[in-house]
Amino acid sequence: MALFKWDSTLSVKVKDFDTEHQKLVELVNRLHDDMKLGKAKESIAGVLDELISYTQTHFRHEEKVMQANSYPGLLQHKAEHENLICQVAEFKQKFDTGSLTLSISIINFLSDWVKNHIMAVDKQYSDFLNSKGVK
Ligand SMILES: [Fe+2]
Ligand SMILES: [Fe+2]
Repeated sequence: MALFKWDSTLSVKVKDFDTEHQKLVELVNRLHDDMKLGKAKESIAGVLDELISYTQTHFRHEEKVMQANSYPGLLQHKAEHENLICQVAEFKQKFDTGSLTLSISIINFLSDWVKNHIMAVDKQYSDFLNSKGVK
């Protein structure tokens, strides 16, 4: 069962970014399901890697579009992205060295940061980007 679902309340009103956010949600859900199923550490590490690299790709994409449209909140938004990447990379490192087991609280943390970042930070660019024709 999926841990959380993307629905229209998470929409940032930019089609490509909604699609990318759905993929992020899917990866967090996969991590949750794999953990529940007791999948091997290597397979979980693979999903975690995919989540990290997809997050980076998505963040770069948002930053590129914000920059191209001279979004005034770019620097602050970028700092939030860097902060999140650091946190998740730290998890991965701890997971790899065995000092952290993927628990439900970690998965909750990951789903919360995806959700909270979309709701509190990404949604701030919606009206601005829409007004520039980015939809
Ligand atoms: Fe985003
Ligand atoms: Fe973002």
